[in-house]
Amino acid sequence: MERKAIYPGSFDPITNGHVDIIQRGKKIFDKIIVGVLDNPKKNPLFSTEERVELIRKAFANDQAVEVKTFSGLLVEFARHNDVSVVIRGLRAISDFEYEFQMALMNRKLSNEIETLFMMPSLKYSFLSSNMVKEVFQLGGCIKDLVPPVVEEALRNKFMNLNK
Ligand code: PNS
Repeated sequence: MERKAIYPGSFDPITNGHVDIIQRGKKIFDKIIVGVLDNPKKNPLFSTEERVELIRKAFANDQAVEVKTFSGLLVEFARHNDVSVVIRGLRAISDFEYEFQMALMNRKLSNEIETLFMMPSLKYSFLSSNMVKEVFQLGGCIKDLVPPVVEEALRNKFMNLNK
């Protein structure tokens, strides 16, 4: 039987920290379903379609990674995909409280769902999508922090926004 896990998030945009967690997840699971939250209320920089496309490009030709969108409850998305494990990355103590709350809420909503926390490489433990966007916008170098397709997409996005 195929061992599957869901890795949910906003991915606005995907960073090397996310990529690192997916690669680690692949050591445990045969398939990682990356669940991109479709929630316009969060006012993302990249549309849901753009976020999905960037992840697909970052994992082009990788059969073990599937990218899907979801809206509504994560536990429903998991159930719909016949998956009982949700992977979340834990970077620092500061992530813990929110992640703990979310994991226990998801367990309350569905007792079948287990949350698996994974630590990214230390070099990505300070990294977030928001930080990447800010640094890029202010002219900082993000080369080692995101897949090349994301750097290009950020360049295009800010070029268009500044027109
Ligand atoms: O990358 P993020 O923004 O930290 O991801 C958060 C995400 C998408 C995993 C979370 O907001 C989520 O699961 N949203 C779906 C709604 C839901 O199920 N809420 C109840 C659990 S808190």
